[in-house]
Amino acid sequence: MQRSPVVRARGITKSFGDVVALDGVDLDVASGQVHGLVGPNGAGKTTLLGLLLGLAVADGGSLEILGTPVGRALAVPDGVAGFVDGPGLYPSLTARQNLTALASLRGNADGGAVERALEQVGLTDVADDRIRGFSLGMRQRLGLAAALLTTPRLLVLDEPANGLDPAGKRHVHRVITELAANGTAVVLSSHRMDDLAALCSEVTVLATGRVVFSGPLSKLAAESGELDYRLLTSDPAAAHQVAEGVTGLGVLPGRDGPDADVLVVRGPVPALDELVVRLVGDGVAIRELAPVVTPLEAAFLALTGAGGGPGPTEGGTR
Ligand SMILES: Nc1ncnc2c1ncn2[C@@H]1O[C@H](COP(=O)(O)OP(=O)(O)O)[C@@H](O)[C@H]1O
Ligand SMILES: [Mg+2]
Repeated sequence: MQRSPVVRARGITKSFGDVVALDGVDLDVASGQVHGLVGPNGAGKTTLLGLLLGLAVADGGSLEILGTPVGRALAVPDGVAGFVDGPGLYPSLTARQNLTALASLRGNADGGAVERALEQVGLTDVADDRIRGFSLGMRQRLGLAAALLTTPRLLVLDEPANGLDPAGKRHVHRVITELAANGTAVVLSSHRMDDLAALCSEVTVLATGRVVFSGPLSKLAAESGELDYRLLTSDPAAAHQVAEGVTGLGVLPGRDGPDADVLVVRGPVPALDELVVRLVGDGVAIRELAPVVTPLEAAFLALTGAGGGPGPTEGGTR
């Protein structure tokens, strides 16, 4: 597959008054690539995606999209589709009417395209419902369907995972994967690393307007140091004592509430192995031992300083 550059941004800066939203950002996206833009709230993701869509102009730096330099005008080359801050739709029209109106505005009278787009995002069953009553996830999917009407060469999606239920997520994943397989470059953002892990091969991590990491996901995962692990046993008090006796293992302060029985420990893998061996030797049963956050999430939190303690996790013995 040809991998021509679709986005080439160098040293992009953008401020709103005193707020520096983007501070020397570089971004490279090749055709057929699904590129994740990840960072905590306020990192500058929406601002950067807005520049790619021609909704705003950078203060400095250079931006090339599909080989064309983007100048001072609020315009980008044909072949760019997507939306930030939710798609612009007519609330009093149905999903099908919205797409049909968009298709005819673009001179695309092929009714089949509308039906295909509805099918692709899984909205066929609600195609004749007014979108006023649509959930955020359904609106996101309809916005994606609108983008599909144009066969984009660059698709830009801001936080597409927001509000999606598992079925919606599956549809969106499939659409994005198929587009990329056909050569579309996709740039999508999320404030959560785990949203992107399944979809993206490359990520750019932003923190307060600066790129703190750019490259393959595998490389990002390797950047995480020692992880915190949740440990649930048949005897939390005994486990605590054993853990404190293992060299190189830190025991983190316990938490109240439903997790009061969960011990959080941090250390290198050999120390964890030692802990498991000793617990079993002492007759303490291990019910769960799992990283509090995945290596990817850990690297993300470390890079962006968005820590503030472990977030909610789904545990499981791994
Ligand atoms: N139109 C605007 N006017 C003023 N400040 C803005 C505007 N858009 C974004 N900002 C500021 O720029 C920073 C980056 O915002 P944004 O790009 O929306 O971040 P993200 O999408 O990563 O949450 C934030 O501090 C935000 O408050
Ligand atoms: Mg945003």
